[in-house]
Amino acid sequence: MDNFDGKVGVVTGAASGIGRSMAERLCSEGMSVVLADIEEENLHETVDQIVADGGTATGVVTDVSSKDAIENLASETMKKYGAVHVLHNNAGVVAAGLLDDLTVNDWEWTIGVNLWSVIYGIQTFLPLIKESGEGHIVNTSSSEGLQASAGTGAYNVTKFGIVALTETLSNELNPFPKINASVLCPGPVRSRIVESERNRPERLWNDGAPAAGLVENDQSSDLLAGAMDPALVAELVVQAIQTNRFWIITHDETKEVVQQRAAALLENGSLSAPLYDFSE
Ligand SMILES: NC(=O)c1ccc[n+]([C@@H]2O[C@H](COP(=O)([O-])OP(=O)(O)OC[C@H]3O[C@@H](n4cnc5c(N)ncnc54)[C@H](O)[C@@H]3O)[C@@H](O)[C@H]2O)c1
Repeated sequence: MDNFDGKVGVVTGAASGIGRSMAERLCSEGMSVVLADIEEENLHETVDQIVADGGTATGVVTDVSSKDAIENLASETMKKYGAVHVLHNNAGVVAAGLLDDLTVNDWEWTIGVNLWSVIYGIQTFLPLIKESGEGHIVNTSSSEGLQASAGTGAYNVTKFGIVALTETLSNELNPFPKINASVLCPGPVRSRIVESERNRPERLWNDGAPAAGLVENDQSSDLLAGAMDPALVAELVVQAIQTNRFWIITHDETKEVVQQRAAALLENGSLSAPLYDFSE
């Protein structure tokens, strides 16, 4: 899809970080964009800003781990703009913990937000994109979808799952030359991902209390201070859609890890040291 003008896009996790930059970028390319997020206030602030900057956008408060909510997002999109061409399944969260510490609640929350959301997104939106005749689905995985660091096991499983889902989707789209898919595997990007716990629903808290996660909620963190600008990630995603490329790997370090991994795999070898380690 090389011409975005007048088309319709949907971005999840659009009130912050990568999703927000994607929504802004698609609007600046002339698309009408539906922004979905669970954080109502930030969502409306983002939509208001985009509209004030001359974009066409609307917000739909959505918990992406709910099938009903994704179906509502699709019907609101069709009601408002009558078609959909680009879907970016992007919302995601991280529950920190070693495998013998992660709770069932940690797993359920992470798999719901990161993986079920993408399954529901594809099931619900692909038929609508096919009706539009052309389009693109982007799913946000991670460098942790290509290697599995210590300390984020549930996250890693969902991100590997997203790579598998998107690869399957791309293969199944072969009969539809005007509809394609890409998987986004970012390294560190400036965002609020390390404060993911802010959005964990109470029913999935551990021990009846919200957890700190990788950093305390609402604390600015040094962890991602020098990380990539999300606007640059959005630029890479738009280029991938325009030139129909499947893999969107943002960082050279990730490419090196993939190279080492492939070499070890072909030799029946051992894992090399992971790029990141969240086990402390
Ligand atoms: N920032 C990084 O370094 C990095 C690296 C690799 C992958 N990613 C991935 O990028 C994606 C975007 O994250 P980000 O880094 O911009 O973080 P972020 O926390 O800034 O943005 C994530 C957005 O998802 C929303 N969200 C959380 N739970 C939700 C739910 N149940 N329903 C709907 N929306 C929900 C949040 O409110 C937030 O607006 C995630 O999938 C993340 O795993 C980020």
